[in-house]
Amino acid sequence: MEKHDVVILGAGAAGMFCAIEAGRRGRRVLVIDHARAAGEKIRISGGGRCNFTNLGIAADRFLSQNQRFALSALKRYTQWDFIARLDAAGIAWHEKTLGQLFCDGPATQIVAMLLDDMRRAGVTLWLETAPGEVRTTPGGFVVETSRGPVQAASVVVATGGKSIPKMGATSYGYRLAESFGLPLVETRPGLVPLTLAAQELEALKPLAGVAVQGSVTAGRTRFDEALLFTHRGLSGPAVLQASSYWREGQPITLDLARGMDAAAHLRKARSEAGRVAPRTALAQILPEKLARHVEALAGLNGTLADQANATLDRVAALVHGWELRPVGSEGYRTAEVTLGGVDTDALDARTMQARNVPGLHFVGEVVDVTGWLGGYNFQWAWSSGWAAGQVV
Ligand code: FDA
Repeated sequence: MEKHDVVILGAGAAGMFCAIEAGRRGRRVLVIDHARAAGEKIRISGGGRCNFTNLGIAADRFLSQNQRFALSALKRYTQWDFIARLDAAGIAWHEKTLGQLFCDGPATQIVAMLLDDMRRAGVTLWLETAPGEVRTTPGGFVVETSRGPVQAASVVVATGGKSIPKMGATSYGYRLAESFGLPLVETRPGLVPLTLAAQELEALKPLAGVAVQGSVTAGRTRFDEALLFTHRGLSGPAVLQASSYWREGQPITLDLARGMDAAAHLRKARSEAGRVAPRTALAQILPEKLARHVEALAGLNGTLADQANATLDRVAALVHGWELRPVGSEGYRTAEVTLGGVDTDALDARTMQARNVPGLHFVGEVVDVTGWLGGYNFQWAWSSGWAAGQVV
């Protein structure tokens, strides 16, 4: 039987990072992935430029039942550590917005760097290999694989979440956790476009393709970024962010003209050019199609001069607080991440080891730690992979 010190299941961001660290410590490491290539999500991420980290890493940028769980790993392997790594590899990068760091060139540079580091660290990589059952033995674990059983002292589960099944995402890691008795936090798609009911979509049809620098609030969390009306509902960074906080049945609130005072604007416009239609004044602070829609939604007739203060205030309230009730999301087909996962209560924050199963570790997205849009999820993958890599 093949024998290794460490078997890592999943050659994504977290698995590769863990493998490099363990390999550098002299451990004999085998990484197994059913995909044809390693690091596929890195390759396609950030529009092919990989938003690999964020300058603003902080606990409140992560969703988890225990928001502080991620901090140990994030503080020990920081965004600055990863940036230094890219600098040393000669991979150029830039800040796009909101602390989001992207490669100047293709994201495949990062995949190549990781594969190179794995090779130098003596890591063995088995692609197109399906792992099966994992069971404990007196010396550690036996992992059944499509190439036969493999023995290891430690197993690291880095099989990611359920997002984009077309790219090979599976529930394997969650099932494995359950088979060892670890609790799961219910999983759902995150960073995902939200969908609207057919009737509402029909009314919003003319707005498809319209984008504004607005904000979206779901629950108590508000995101000031762009939002976009689509043929299915709502998208854009503010909506993707809010989707992670949205629960079925809840409304979300849109501010279509963030940072402006629509009420003051409408009153001023009325005193200066009262003979125009309300939509004309609205179109000075909103895209024209949206201005028309808001006018219709508010049921306005006549000119601006015909509108009482209370009416203008009602229109302004709509501009800054338009409540919509999504019926769902586009689901794992397009979601960037999976919320929920292996319950952090069952894991040691320093080592990512299952408290009740010595030698079994979970890293990356399979764990109930989900970052905001903007490089947070890769930083979690690097940091958690690094943390486990120090001890396996
Ligand atoms: P990851 O999914 O990367 O890797 C899991 C690996 O396990 C894969 O190689 C998979 O093939 C393998 N696997 C799964 N099931 C298996 C099984 N049953 N048997 C064998 N192998 C199996 N984040 C960010 O911070 N910045 C960004 O720019 C983006 N952009 C982005 C774009 C798109 C389109 C998506 C879908 C996602 C992002 N993300 C992102 C999120 C980011 O990609 C994600 O959080 C990390 O890749 C998670 O890393 P992991 O290593 O945990 O899983």
